Amino acid sequence: MSDPVFTPRVFSGIQPSGGLTLGNYLGAIKRFVEMQDAGTHETVYCMVDLHAITAKLVPPAELVHNTRELCAGFLASGIDPEKSILINQSQVPEHAQLAWIFNCVARMGWMGRMTQWKDKSGKNAEASSLGLFAYPALMAADILIYHGTHVPVGEDQKQHLELTRDIAAKFNHDYGVEFFPITEPVIEGVATRVMNLQDGTKKMSKSDPSDKTRINMTDDADAIAKKIRKAKTDPDPLPGEIAGLDARPDARNLVNIYAALAEVSPQAVLDQHDGALFGHFKLALADLAVEKLAPISAEMARLMDDPAEIDRILTRGAERAREITVPILERTYDIVGMLRS
Ligand code: TYM
Repeated sequence: MSDPVFTPRVFSGIQPSGGLTLGNYLGAIKRFVEMQDAGTHETVYCMVDLHAITAKLVPPAELVHNTRELCAGFLASGIDPEKSILINQSQVPEHAQLAWIFNCVARMGWMGRMTQWKDKSGKNAEASSLGLFAYPALMAADILIYHGTHVPVGEDQKQHLELTRDIAAKFNHDYGVEFFPITEPVIEGVATRVMNLQDGTKKMSKSDPSDKTRINMTDDADAIAKKIRKAKTDPDPLPGEIAGLDARPDARNLVNIYAALAEVSPQAVLDQHDGALFGHFKLALADLAVEKLAPISAEMARLMDDPAEIDRILTRGAERAREITVPILERTYDIVGMLRS
């Protein structure tokens, strides 16, 4: 039997857990816009509000605010709701319905090996929610309810995408079908792991208690410039070759951020700044970051003044999404043997 041909379709999601960072922008959203504009794939982008409540209770009004703000971030960065399908996860119920089926496909052992589960549940797994444990099965459902073939993400999502492939393969094998595609992760470029501005060995994260460690997409020009000027570096000048950044994680991080924002290779950044001291390089990086990011934060603020328009876009996105997800869920139910009316 020949392999089925799946429509090339990109899916990716971001948690509305408060505050988009430069890591989310460079590692994910910027790639989403590029893949949308390339026009080679259908593109579906999602605010994953169901995932956002797995770690802790989020005050309801805060979740609503964060979801709208994330949507504003997508739009301000260049996601076009006509070209892409832009949705909020809970408004497309088939995600959660397929997730239940996948809860019955995935094995406890697989889930227990997820490093994000281990990190987030820490020493207190017993007190963690069942939702946090099952998180990757919902993520697999997010992708596969669209028969998503390509998933652009940052490096930290790699293991979850391997699990998505395992779930698709096991479902297909157990039911003797070739129904779900084996998804390709798209983890490319210099910004797949943007690091913490105060410690280049740690990932930049929205959950870090210190705001100095990250650039938020809502930061204004002054805040962006100040955080870059105060970023940790070392006393040596910039090297002429990439190998000279080995064992200099803070320096490497700033070079990679510059390269990603300027859309050039890290070597091109070093060619331009060979021998520069960080005091000087940071000023150039701050100017570049303000030029690229400040218009996005200004546009986000403008969009947030009209939440009704954001809600309209998401309602329309959900309608378009369900043209894809309802038939895929129905076929899944038929395969599994569920009666439907
Ligand atoms: P989340 O919300 O933690 O992050 C969203 C996206 O941003 C990327 N990212 C980074 N990239 C580079 N450097 C960083 N410092 C950095 N921090 C975050 C993440 O890799 C991700 O691509 N489980 C997912 C959300 C999700 C999803 C999905 C993703 C739910 N369902 C289906 C893809 C497909 C998450 O928590 O991402």
